[in-house]
Amino acid sequence: MVRNDFLSIRDFTPQEIREFIELARLIKSNPGLFAGSLRGQTLALIFEKPSLRTRVSFDVGIHQLGGFSLYLSPAEINLGKRESVYDVAKNLERMVQGIMIRTFAHEIVEQMAEYASIPIINGLTDYSHPCQAMADYLTMLEVKGEVAGLKVAFIGDGNNVAHSLMFAGAQLGANVWVATPPKYEPDAAAIRWATEHGQSTGGSCTITNDPVEAAHNADVIYTDAWTSMGQEAEKAEREKIFRPYQVNTELFHLAKQDAIFMHCLPAHRGEEVAPDVIDSVHSVVFQQAENRLHAQKAIMVELMKHEVAEGLRMRVASS
Ligand code: CP
Ligand code: NVA
Repeated sequence: MVRNDFLSIRDFTPQEIREFIELARLIKSNPGLFAGSLRGQTLALIFEKPSLRTRVSFDVGIHQLGGFSLYLSPAEINLGKRESVYDVAKNLERMVQGIMIRTFAHEIVEQMAEYASIPIINGLTDYSHPCQAMADYLTMLEVKGEVAGLKVAFIGDGNNVAHSLMFAGAQLGANVWVATPPKYEPDAAAIRWATEHGQSTGGSCTITNDPVEAAHNADVIYTDAWTSMGQEAEKAEREKIFRPYQVNTELFHLAKQDAIFMHCLPAHRGEEVAPDVIDSVHSVVFQQAENRLHAQKAIMVELMKHEVAEGLRMRVASS
């Protein structure tokens, strides 16, 4: 796999997405085997929004692979305001071997990837959250034994997490349903892509405004915050509009008997999910959170091992 960046699930073939997940499983079961894979490499972590899981899993992950992380807070860089994306890319590529970035506009991660010669990893944009989807499908594979053919029902906002879940579902042959209030459906281009690409894998993407239809006979019920980071001004309005989409016991019981509940977290008990669902035996949310670590270690190894090889080549050439 020769791909320098991890910006979107759409940039890879179904085979490559499966390989990432297989590598993540291998790393999870044999962490010691990979302990020195990225020895001496530094990953910069640019955060323009808050985080618990993404920050901790990248930080711990790169250390476990023998490398270092460098946390850059929202106040530090002030991307595009204090300094242009181009200049930030050109500075960082001379000092670190990879950049993970969490930001607002998706175009910023694309620009960073265009300007920087080192790998760029999308740690969430307003449009997508591909690292989350990798951990999500790794979790489904672990719990269900197979991803192809699963009915995965995402109920709530047609947001960044929903988009990546649709893309990865199409790559892996899952039947993804997304139930949202009218006007909160996923992006039309995202729906088109997932629908078209699902055709070659046996996957599908179905959009509805009816949570009952989506939840019926599902293998997985997934939800996320009604108000994403950056939408705080809409919080009160969204709470009213999304109320009928709460994943509560009544809705969850429409799914298969052995269905699992998933949430990317942070969760808001009493809003998008009732406590007796997220805190039930069906919930795999903490396994899902842990899998961010393993999935992202696979992504870092896959992308940054080329940097290690390139660095060695340059050292040999200049000696
Ligand atoms: N799921 C997720 O990305 O969590 P954080 O926002 O805490 O990183
Ligand atoms: N949709 C949420 C995901 C948080 C991990 C947000 O963007 O805030």
